[in-house]
Amino acid sequence: MSKLSVEHLLSIKNLTKKDIELIFRTADNFKRIINQPIKKVPTLRDITIANLFFENSTRTRLSFELAEKRLSADVINFSSASSSVKKGETLIDTVNNILSMKVDMVVMRHPNPGAAEFLSRNVDALIINAGDGAHEHPTQALLDSFSIREKLGKVKGKKVVIIGDILHSRVALSNFHCLQKLGAEVRVCGPSTLMPKYLDSLGVKHFTDIKEAMSWCDVANILRIQLERQDVNYFPSLREYAMVYGTNKELLDSLEKEIVVMHPGPINRGVELSSDVADSDHSIILDQVENGVAIRMAVIYLLASKLKK
Ligand code: CP
Repeated sequence: MSKLSVEHLLSIKNLTKKDIELIFRTADNFKRIINQPIKKVPTLRDITIANLFFENSTRTRLSFELAEKRLSADVINFSSASSSVKKGETLIDTVNNILSMKVDMVVMRHPNPGAAEFLSRNVDALIINAGDGAHEHPTQALLDSFSIREKLGKVKGKKVVIIGDILHSRVALSNFHCLQKLGAEVRVCGPSTLMPKYLDSLGVKHFTDIKEAMSWCDVANILRIQLERQDVNYFPSLREYAMVYGTNKELLDSLEKEIVVMHPGPINRGVELSSDVADSDHSIILDQVENGVAIRMAVIYLLASKLKK
């Protein structure tokens, strides 16, 4: 199979295992290319892509922009803070105005869950979800599983624990779908107040003891506490969270095996993760960021091949 089963990338839930494997094989090729002296291919010279960010981002925004430029697409960037959205323009009007400038594809980050799917139903462009509120962050989950495959040889059969603020995390939900489709066993660890109700329906078990979770897993994917999405306090204090659920060198040294440590970024150093682990050989955090460019090149390339020209 050389085509994705979807017209847009809105969620991992909508992808098949074959789609994910196709994205990985395509990303393998792009990773080889971007590690050569000439990092650019002329593949998407006739495509224009708009990056619409209605929420802050460092990694995802720059990674998409670089992926688009490596594919030779024309790129325009939009940030809601300096736009006419501030004057009350609707999302559909904003995007339709951008599309009338002959844009083919929209990459969008938005604070509201479902915003990317809403857009895909209401405008005539190919949409890539770059994170919609606490719903999904599909390219993050793809690059996370791709990085596990690269580090451990395969994803199938691996035990992955996702630690921390699962309730507010789009990264967690996309990772559950991606890891389960690829045959990994996934569990979570953190305070019960930060666990969503849907975990049972996905068959995801919950550790409350971080040492037990770390002893079980091959890979620990550690999430940021998303204070900006919390309307009440879900635990007594950040200091106590760090004491009970923080990952540090002492904890990793107490395990009987080596585990791989991941984090989607941005890191709250000293809260969910100590610097001596974040910057250690256990950590593949910067490999995740590197792989993000190849994964996004693959997604854009595969979706662009479906554009009617
Ligand atoms: N991982 C991630 O989405 O990071 P940014 O918010 O910086 O894009």
